[in-house]
Amino acid sequence: MQLRDNAERYGLVSRLLHWGMALVLLWQLLSVAARVLLPDTAIDDFLWSTHRQTGFLLFVLIGFRIVWALANISRRPPSVSLAARLGHILLYVLLFAVPLLALVRQYGSGRAFEPFGIPLFSGFDGDSIAWMIQPASLAHGALGWTLFALIVGHILMAFWHRRQPGWTDVLPRMWGRN
Ligand code: HEM
Ligand code: HEM
Repeated sequence: MQLRDNAERYGLVSRLLHWGMALVLLWQLLSVAARVLLPDTAIDDFLWSTHRQTGFLLFVLIGFRIVWALANISRRPPSVSLAARLGHILLYVLLFAVPLLALVRQYGSGRAFEPFGIPLFSGFDGDSIAWMIQPASLAHGALGWTLFALIVGHILMAFWHRRQPGWTDVLPRMWGRN
């Protein structure tokens, strides 16, 4: 399989990023679902303890994915509709903004943050930085849930496209050989 995309299908790198991030996002969804549905249980404690570093991993991956998407923009399979195009762009925007807001808040809190042992923020003494904390406190959770809702819509649309006579079946672009 080709590394780069072509007009008929996504290449290996795009597919690894797409399906790899889908798995990591599923884990992230489990962590917030446990926080809401099973508060103060061992499952919640365990999953929630991974939320920040999994979120950091997703932020790094979306950085690679944006660069890769831009490098392949003229070779990718064309969007099937304006709605699909806008939907994919919105997914990118949220995949970038949701962890970014939280990371800025993490820095502004003044607490050290070492995802996977990487000393990203060493923390500082004194007051936390309000302008760094407020945007995430207002929007991180709501935008995160919006992202998960959009992903559900995205998955439903992928299967819907398969079933509609005369519509392009887009699944083989991202999965299997066509
Ligand atoms: C794509 C990555 C991420 C997604 C999809 C995501 C999603 C969410 C969602 C949906 C909530 C709300 C949970 C609830 O309703 O109780 C939440 C809360 C939270 N997240 Fe994330 N998150 C991500 C990355 C991060 C990162 C990178 C950090 C920190 C470094 C972080 C820290 C937090 C914290 C502290 C909360 C609880 C406070 C709040 O609701 O804002 N998240 N996250
Ligand atoms: C869980 C998180 C998921 C996210 C964030 C996501 C996001 C995206 C994005 C942004 C694209 C545009 C191409 C790209 O830049 O990679 C795309 C394409 C696609 N995704 Fe997903 N996806 C997810 C899961 C899934 C799942 C579970 C399916 C299975 C039905 C799926 C099926 C597809 C298909 C068929 C395409 C190609 C669409 C086309 O070229 O018109 N995705 N996805």
